[in-house]
Amino acid sequence: MWTMRWDVLCIAFAGWFVAYAIQARRRAVLLPPGPRGLPFIGNALHLSLTDSFMQFRQWADCHGPLIYFHTFGREFVVVNDLKMALDLFDQRSGIYATKPRLVMAGELVGKEKTSMVFSKYNALHRKCRRIAHSWMNKQHVREYSWPLQEAASYRLLVSVLDNPANFSEAIRTNAGAVLLKALYGIECLPVDDPNINLSEHVCELTNEAAHPGRWLVDSFPVVRTCPNRHVVPWGHFKRWAAASRETTERLIRGPFNAVKDSMREGSAISCWVADTLLDEAKGAKTVDDIHAAMVAAGTLYAAGIDTTVSAIRMFWLMMVLHPDIQRKAQAEIDAVVGTQRLPTMEDREKLPYLNCIIKEVLRFGTIVPLMPHSLDVDDACTISLRPAIYHNPNTYPSPDEFRPERYLPHSGPVAAFDPEVIGFGLGRRTCVGEHFAQAIMFLNMAHTLAVFDLRPAKDANGVPRPPAVAWRGGHIRCVRVVVPSCPLWRISPFSLLTS
Ligand code: HEM
Repeated sequence: MWTMRWDVLCIAFAGWFVAYAIQARRRAVLLPPGPRGLPFIGNALHLSLTDSFMQFRQWADCHGPLIYFHTFGREFVVVNDLKMALDLFDQRSGIYATKPRLVMAGELVGKEKTSMVFSKYNALHRKCRRIAHSWMNKQHVREYSWPLQEAASYRLLVSVLDNPANFSEAIRTNAGAVLLKALYGIECLPVDDPNINLSEHVCELTNEAAHPGRWLVDSFPVVRTCPNRHVVPWGHFKRWAAASRETTERLIRGPFNAVKDSMREGSAISCWVADTLLDEAKGAKTVDDIHAAMVAAGTLYAAGIDTTVSAIRMFWLMMVLHPDIQRKAQAEIDAVVGTQRLPTMEDREKLPYLNCIIKEVLRFGTIVPLMPHSLDVDDACTISLRPAIYHNPNTYPSPDEFRPERYLPHSGPVAAFDPEVIGFGLGRRTCVGEHFAQAIMFLNMAHTLAVFDLRPAKDANGVPRPPAVAWRGGHIRCVRVVVPSCPLWRISPFSLLTS
């Protein structure tokens, strides 16, 4: 009969441990520095469950431009240096174009197949990018988005006038309305639109699903085979994943299927999705093509709202906190555009100071703080950490100050490095929505400055209350201005809108 030989077992374990220690020591010589981890679990206990990128930033201050850490055998390399990030993700973008395996976000919630942002660099992704580019290229955005964006931005001004306390939500509705109309031909409600609420919910779920170190199953894929929570108490992650998957699919499929239904009934109105499905030349012929169009539209819709909303809310906050910068930008607009009309996209090149504000919002707000990529050949996760790059005092002196002047040609010995170069990503996974984002940010900011003075709200005694800000960390850093600023109109928006 088989009996347990404890002596053999102990010798085998000791052998494994010595081999592990020797291998770990050898690898440590080759690997970049990083926080010291424990055997096997690595740095799992160090990772913050809520704000991992601030954690990475602290590590960057201690360990330098390139950091290595691991959790349960999952390896991470964090790139904190501008030149290294350009070398790896731009120059060698061919081998860094894919995404690491994320069991929770990618597989259980299903984002690998329903979102361009999380998909591997494969045939589906390339097809989606081609379609997304046909909608979001410079010329198409100019022709089809600018008019929609201008109209939505006017509506934003009126909505803020009506209900200043609700400005934060109005900014969200504005961004969502343009995307819903352009992509799916859907008119959204002025407040509490179900599609827009759903997109916000999905963004929260995505942030949680993709949070580094949040889910055991990301380190131990085998955990996904465990029974659900009725059998083991920690099996509830499967229910969470299933519910998140269902919600995410509703966002991707709902508006797309509505377009398909209206096409079938012959009542479809022209929009980017309908035009693509109808236009044989654009290639939506096979089931795969139709799926790619659905994923491309759904990703643009989801990715486009949260990023631009975050940037525009950050702009409001900075204007309230820096009245001198606000006055300077208003003076520029008044001098170039006058006070009889609102700025248009054609004015953009003549407003250098406002353009510097947009750059500084992108740097200071760091809307997309970290984006994990991985090598074709292994699944180590390589993260370029924008907060560390954007707050490097060698590149941006006094990095914690909001100073748009730093990008002006004669602001110092040399103008600061343009944060837009890396702000929209690098290499083959760069942001497809950059032209759209630039236009919506410019129009919203220029119109707001032309019409309003943004000031802090006052308390019952008439004392200004500095706005309080809530950050939501994650793959998109979302700002919520809790105590609203109080927009006072300096020029009647109604007189401008009707002229
Ligand atoms: C201020 C606004 C925005 C910022 C800062 C921003 C930033 C980024 C960054 C850094 C990436 C690269 C991620 C990576 O390295 O994997 C990215 C990807 C992406 N962005 Fe944006 N973005 C913005 C607005 C938009 C808008 C308005 C849209 C769509 C309407 C959009 C759609 C996308 C998509 C689809 C991807 C995935 C591209 C791919 O993986 O091939 N973004 N964005």
